[in-house]
Amino acid sequence: MRQGAFALVTGCAGFVGSHLTQALLDREVGVAGVDNFFSGFPHNMEGFRKNPLFTFYEKSVTQKGLVRWIKDRHLDLTLVFHLAAIVSVPYSVEHPLETMEVNHRASVSLYEEARELGLKTFVFAGSAAEYGELDRLPLKESYPDEDTRHLSPYGLAKFLTSTHIEKRGWGTALRFFNIFGPRQDPKSPYSGVISRFIDLGIAGKPLTIFGDGLQTRDFIYVRDVVRAYLSVAGLAESGPEPIAGVFNVGTGHSTSILNLAITTSELTGNTEPFRFGPERQGDIRHSLADVSKIAAATGFTAQVSLKDGLRETIAWSRAQARQVHEP
Ligand code: UD1
Repeated sequence: MRQGAFALVTGCAGFVGSHLTQALLDREVGVAGVDNFFSGFPHNMEGFRKNPLFTFYEKSVTQKGLVRWIKDRHLDLTLVFHLAAIVSVPYSVEHPLETMEVNHRASVSLYEEARELGLKTFVFAGSAAEYGELDRLPLKESYPDEDTRHLSPYGLAKFLTSTHIEKRGWGTALRFFNIFGPRQDPKSPYSGVISRFIDLGIAGKPLTIFGDGLQTRDFIYVRDVVRAYLSVAGLAESGPEPIAGVFNVGTGHSTSILNLAITTSELTGNTEPFRFGPERQGDIRHSLADVSKIAAATGFTAQVSLKDGLRETIAWSRAQARQVHEP
């Protein structure tokens, strides 16, 4: 095990959390993983469930004193990666109090515990949703303030937690733009556009574009997101010790949904014509990260192109589909 490196990963059975856990274990960092399977899945942990460096606890992050409880069992705990959250924006609109409880109150409480215990760092999973209606592109970390109108309790709760961390001057909040990759669940109506387009593309069904398709997003591949995590936590091959503050994690390039639909159709061999539906309510038009702050602090830049990330995700989805059909 890396000298002195042991991490708590909340949300270890989720899409991003499972990739991060695997990457930490690959670097011989021990991991205590916590998940309550609210939106994660046991099968996401298949690759590491039996790894001797990994211990799983089925728990909610709303449990008071969770970081201390883990520290009592793993005395070498030094790092906390807090990814567990209410992840659906529409769910947050229907359940604002629960969202504030999990994505803000419980998150701040875990953060304060980690700080009081004198751990090395605490990394919080923030979101581009923290920018709300702001449309000065590219989006800089300094733009949102108390007057920013958030479009959902999800965005507001994440913003309040990031701001708390920034004001304390210890620990990191990462504002992720649109993450995609293997293990993103395509089945919910609120799933990310890439997981839906790939799922439909492989099935040879028409893709639905909401609005004119000229809205743009900054799509980042999950492997790059994991690299960003490692770089801010002081675990990159070459890079600084843990850094503090709020940082965007995106590629700094944007792609239109129409362009994404064309590329995904080409790569999946789907020839069905697109369908155009009404614009989705509450959609922002354009989203693009200014990525200069994290690059200056850690040297991190995204490396996987959209096309390569799509290819890898399609290959994974095809393998999944084969597993389902071949008993
Ligand atoms: C994403 C996040 C959201 C976060 C927001 C912050 C996901 C699922 N959502 O929302 O949690 O708050 O960033 O900015 O990651 N679209 C189609 N057809 C489809 C599905 C989607 O045209 O079948 C369009 C949508 O209308 C939208 C775009 O694709 O314009 C992207 O949608 P989506 O992947 O849901 O991400 P965001 O809306 O950016």
